[in-house]
Amino acid sequence: METKIYTQQDIPEAAAQLRAGNLVAFPTETVYGLGAIVDNEAAVRGVYAAKGRPSDNPLIVTVCSPEMVWKYALKNELAEKLMTNFWPGPLTIILPLQPGSLSATVTGGLHTAAFRMPKNQATLELIKETGTPIVGPSANTSGKPSPTLAQHVYHDLNGKIAGILDDGPTQVGLESTVVDLSVTPAAILRPGYYDAADLTPVLGVVDTEQHHVGANETPKAPGMKYKHYAPAAQVLIVKPTVDFANAVRETQQQHPTKFGVLAFDDQLASIAASDQVVTFSLGTDISTASHQLFSGLRWFDDQPEIDLILAAGVDEDGLGIAYMNRLKKSAGGQYYGESTR
Ligand code: TXA
Ligand code: MG
Repeated sequence: METKIYTQQDIPEAAAQLRAGNLVAFPTETVYGLGAIVDNEAAVRGVYAAKGRPSDNPLIVTVCSPEMVWKYALKNELAEKLMTNFWPGPLTIILPLQPGSLSATVTGGLHTAAFRMPKNQATLELIKETGTPIVGPSANTSGKPSPTLAQHVYHDLNGKIAGILDDGPTQVGLESTVVDLSVTPAAILRPGYYDAADLTPVLGVVDTEQHHVGANETPKAPGMKYKHYAPAAQVLIVKPTVDFANAVRETQQQHPTKFGVLAFDDQLASIAASDQVVTFSLGTDISTASHQLFSGLRWFDDQPEIDLILAAGVDEDGLGIAYMNRLKKSAGGQYYGESTR
């Protein structure tokens, strides 16, 4: 199957493909998702197969209106408030389900499900036209960085899915914040664009400790639990307190072959040009860095001779929490200058 690239005007055809039980990737404000209609069991299984995703990792249910959620989830006032404040937008809400409303293939056998209404007009139209929610995991091969361009999806899934609705680069670049309302207090399971400070005015108390990996903890199963966004190269995080140019100079001496540098413009400007050092810019600030992180990791992945990447760390506040969460996963928690290897 040759995977088609759809644009805005092809939304009716893309919707027809979904209704026929085929898979179509779609844009969101965070990363591209892989769609199949929620109540087509074979199609949903196809999503796990195309991604190579473990079957116990539940999928997000992507909707085009808050009302769509209440066909499946138990009514919840806090959730309604969150939806009013943050939807459409990069916030995924986990809610207890009406028993039997979604298959175990979607929920991974849980009695809860994750719901999300993305801020992307083309995708909201696609779901409306399809007439039912679509599942929406990130449209990458499991273990690869999430796709922020239609080309990333094509790279991973060409030949495995019917089409990709292309709406250019995504804006945020990191996956949505996941907040669990099935527990008390509500808990952030995955940090994203919205942080606890954004959510507490609505939720009161928010548990922010549920996604943390202890600072000095070495993952017990590297490449498994924490190394989700792993490029082929070893990634080392350079702490914001470390002199970046100096870290590069030291690495040039210790690592005689080519290596990658993923850093901010001012850091790149401080490095002497060298054939040994292959650079990718994170731009000027945390917003551009979040937008560029996955693209950068993928760009280095296409250069097999690069087996080491020095990547700029940032302070862990606001969007920096989400950025560092993803970067730590790609690095397996390893920092430059700390010999954990
Ligand atoms: O920004 C996003 O959320 C993107 C775009 C495409 O919408 N989607 C995305 O989906 O990142 P995915 O499947 O890659 O990540 C969903 C996360 C997974 O970590 C999954 O384990 C978790 O949400 N999740 C889904 N349902 C859950 C549930 N009922 N309880 C706890 N975690 C759940
Ligand atoms: Mg994912």
